[in-house]
Amino acid sequence: MPGRVAGKVALVTGAARGQGRSHAIRLAEEGADIIAVDIAAQVGSVPYPMATPDDLDQTVKEVEALDRRIVAAQADVRDYGALKAALDDGVAQLGGLDIVAANAGICSFGRAEELSEQNWQDMIDINLTGVWHAAKAAIPHIRAGGHGGSIVLTSSTAGLMPFENMAHYTAAKHGVVGLMRTLALELAPDFIRVNSVHPTSVSTDMIHNKATYELFAPDLPEAGRTKEVLGERFQALNALPVPWVEARDISNAVLFLASDEARYITGVTLPVDAGSVAK
Ligand SMILES: NC(=O)c1ccc[n+]([C@@H]2O[C@H](COP(=O)([O-])OP(=O)(O)OC[C@H]3O[C@@H](n4cnc5c(N)ncnc54)[C@H](O)[C@@H]3O)[C@@H](O)[C@H]2O)c1
Repeated sequence: MPGRVAGKVALVTGAARGQGRSHAIRLAEEGADIIAVDIAAQVGSVPYPMATPDDLDQTVKEVEALDRRIVAAQADVRDYGALKAALDDGVAQLGGLDIVAANAGICSFGRAEELSEQNWQDMIDINLTGVWHAAKAAIPHIRAGGHGGSIVLTSSTAGLMPFENMAHYTAAKHGVVGLMRTLALELAPDFIRVNSVHPTSVSTDMIHNKATYELFAPDLPEAGRTKEVLGERFQALNALPVPWVEARDISNAVLFLASDEARYITGVTLPVDAGSVAK
C-alpha cells in the first residue's frame, strides 16, 4: 500500500514532543520525510517544563525507526532567521517541501487585567507570529515544487470560543484563524491549501502539569489533584464523555488535511474537540 503522503516532505514545528512528535511520526508512517524544528528549551513565562534536546533526539529516533528521513534542528519560531535557516537546510537535504504542520505553541494563565507584559508578548510572538513565520518561510519552497501543497495551522478550541484566564492564548489562537483564512485565499492559485485544526484538551505535557492542574482545581490541596480527579473537570468541557483526546487523534486530522483526500479542502477550521465547541 502506498502511504497517504508518500514521497512528500513535511515541516513540523514543535516536533520534540507531544502533538508535534506525533504529527512527525504519523506523517512518516504514511511515507513522508520530516523537517523537525523545536526550541527544545524553556521560555521564562511558561509555567511548566518545556521540551529538551533529548526529546527532539527521541523524535528523530522514532521517525528513523520508520525508515523515513528526518532533519532536525533546534530553532525558536520567534526568530524568523533561525527558523528559515533550519527549514532551508532541511529542504536542501530532503529535496523539497509539500506539507507544513505549524504546531509549536505555549500555554500560560492569568486574567486579562493581570497578565504581565511578558506573558502577553511571549504568547503572541510564539502562538501567532511563530505560526506566520513557519508559513512565510515555507511558502516559497512549496511554490517552487510546482504541484501545490498543504499547510495546517494548529489553533485550539480557544480559536473558536472564549476561555477565561487565557485571554492572550485565546487571542493568539483566534488570530491563527484570520491568518489561515487569508493564506488560503492568497495561496489558492498555487494550489497550496491552508486549514486550521482546533483540538480540545490533548493528553500532553501542556496540560498534565502542576500549573494547569492548579488552574482546574484551585479548591483542592495539591495532593488531591490527581489525574483521575482532574479528568472529571476536563471532561466537563467536552460533549463526548472523555476528559481529553490523544495526540494521535490530532495527527490523524493533520494527516487527512495534508493528504490528497483533502485536495479541495481549504480555508477550513476543523475541530477535533469531542464536541466541545458544539457544547
Ligand atoms: N495540549 C492541549 O490541550 C492543546 C489543546 C489545544 C491546542 N493545543 C496546541 O497544540 C500545540 C502543541 O501542543 P502540545 O499539546 O503538543 O504541547 P507540548 O508542550 O507538549 O508541545 C509543544 C512543543 O512546542 C515547542 N515550542 C514551544 N515554543 C516554541 C518556540 N518558540 N519555538 C519552537 N518550538 C517551540 C515545545 O518545546 C514543545 O516541544 C500547541 O500549539 C498548543 O497550543 C494544545
